[in-house]
Amino acid sequence: MSHHKLEAIDLKYGYPDGHEAIRGISFEAVHGEAVGIIGANGAGKSTLLMLMMGLLHPNAGKVRIGGVELTAKTLPDIRKRVGMVFQNPDDQLFMPTVGEDVAFGPRNAGLAELEVNQRVTMALERVGILHLRDRAPFKLSGGEKHAAAIASILAMEPDILVLDEPTAGLDPRARRRVMRLLAGFTHTRLITSHDLDMILDLCPRVVILKEGKVAADGLTRQLLAEPDLMADCGMEVPALLQPCARCGHVPFCGHCPSGASVPSGASVPSCASVPSG
Ligand SMILES: Nc1ncnc2c1ncn2[C@@H]1O[C@H](COP(=O)(O)OP(=O)(O)O)[C@@H](O)[C@H]1O
Ligand SMILES: [Mg+2]
Repeated sequence: MSHHKLEAIDLKYGYPDGHEAIRGISFEAVHGEAVGIIGANGAGKSTLLMLMMGLLHPNAGKVRIGGVELTAKTLPDIRKRVGMVFQNPDDQLFMPTVGEDVAFGPRNAGLAELEVNQRVTMALERVGILHLRDRAPFKLSGGEKHAAAIASILAMEPDILVLDEPTAGLDPRARRRVMRLLAGFTHTRLITSHDLDMILDLCPRVVILKEGKVAADGLTRQLLAEPDLMADCGMEVPALLQPCARCGHVPFCGHCPSGASVPSGASVPSCASVPSG
């Protein structure tokens, strides 16, 4: 399944105003892998995704998708295999109805109308919004818009999904719904986010960016638990990986009062005394 592989090789990119946003990034994601791309604001996450999608062209280095180098010639083919969901679904939805938005890609790819319809139904069912088919995208809630944007990508049947901040701005229920959806995919996935709890949940591996470079690449549970690394990259260890304030046990189990001072003599079971699992 090498066609699901995604590689960045010493990528460099500067915006026209001279700002060097990506300063030599290399990594790869293999078939079926879900890789989180995290870092402070301005670290280069969105720029990196746009380079991987061929929406921006690197000043140096290359992108390979399934072993094929991304060039002007290979781009149309590669676009069919890699689907990007933008941070703001309003950038992605522009047709009068959700159904037409989801049909846009397959129709544009020249598929027969019967197949287009089947794909639209399949994609909307997959994200659980078939009932919204005839609704105007701008009238949807934030979570519904995200689901519609994801459906418009799924309708193209991509091998690889690239998602920029998929839970940004969602209320807790919509966030959980998008997370469940993403967890159910077997595609190779690149997911940027500030939502470290979501990254912990969905991405066993993480690439941490700092000022346009890879600061670390490894197991999410390990890297996100390193306070010095996280602070150096402008982030904080997520609450789930913070040691219990009372007994130091990681992960915090909820039995010891978190961070708060424990009244002397109070009888509180410590995390360490609670059997794991
Ligand atoms: N269109 C642009 N022109 C100039 N600089 C930009 C542009 N877009 C982003 N940048 C800069 O590039 C850097 C990386 O931005 P971005 O990839 O959006 O970061 P992130 O997604 O990690 O927040 C930032 O310093 C940002 O200000
Ligand atoms: Mg961004």
